[in-house]
Amino acid sequence: MKLIAPSILSADFARLAEEIEAVTAAGADWLHVDVMDGHFVPNLTIGPPVVKALRRVTDLYLDVHLMMDNPDDFLEQFADAGANGITVHAEVLPHLHRTLGRIRELGRDAGVSLNPSTPIDHLDHVLELCDLVLVMTVNPGFGGQKFIPAAAAKVIELRRKIDGLGLNTRVEVDGGVDPETIAQVKQADVFVAGSAVFGRPPYVEAIAALRQGLA
Ligand code: DX5
Ligand code: ZN
Repeated sequence: MKLIAPSILSADFARLAEEIEAVTAAGADWLHVDVMDGHFVPNLTIGPPVVKALRRVTDLYLDVHLMMDNPDDFLEQFADAGANGITVHAEVLPHLHRTLGRIRELGRDAGVSLNPSTPIDHLDHVLELCDLVLVMTVNPGFGGQKFIPAAAAKVIELRRKIDGLGLNTRVEVDGGVDPETIAQVKQADVFVAGSAVFGRPPYVEAIAALRQGLA
């Protein structure tokens, strides 16, 4: 099943509850929450209190993407706030095996994200611990960037690897995904879209256009 995960980074932060209600009614499967620390990426966004507030207004799966240098220090806070899945970046974690185990111990789905320049081999010995692998299709930090076509080959390779091992790990793509680019990464399971949903109302049409792009 293909899941569409609108990224609230492109929503109107002053009206988050309404925005969430609107994308839910429009058929969103998950909500993608971008946490940026101003170090790992050159941008600052939100933290656990906002995740907690979102949890109060939605039953949708909260897919929390931690673009931070020190995610280990915050796993518990995000789990307590009500994240369903917590995704960390491979590039900042010397003890990735331990971090993924910790996320699962907290009862959350464990995800790892790879920047465009990070090879899939990085995950060779931890893939069994990943509920999700997020392949970045832009350099993380901002919404509305241009899709990097080279990422498509990574998605295909990763899919082959996961299927070859007989794992249930989901593949997610994030960045520049729109009705035109989505076909290039159609082997993924979860499709994050920020500007292609919140920037293209009505949301029901925006989400339908993404699904159409996959057809
Ligand atoms: C980028 C974030 C993305 C972003 C996607 O660093 O991780 O989730 O919100 O935005 P679009 O879909 O506009 O590229
Ligand atoms: Zn993201």
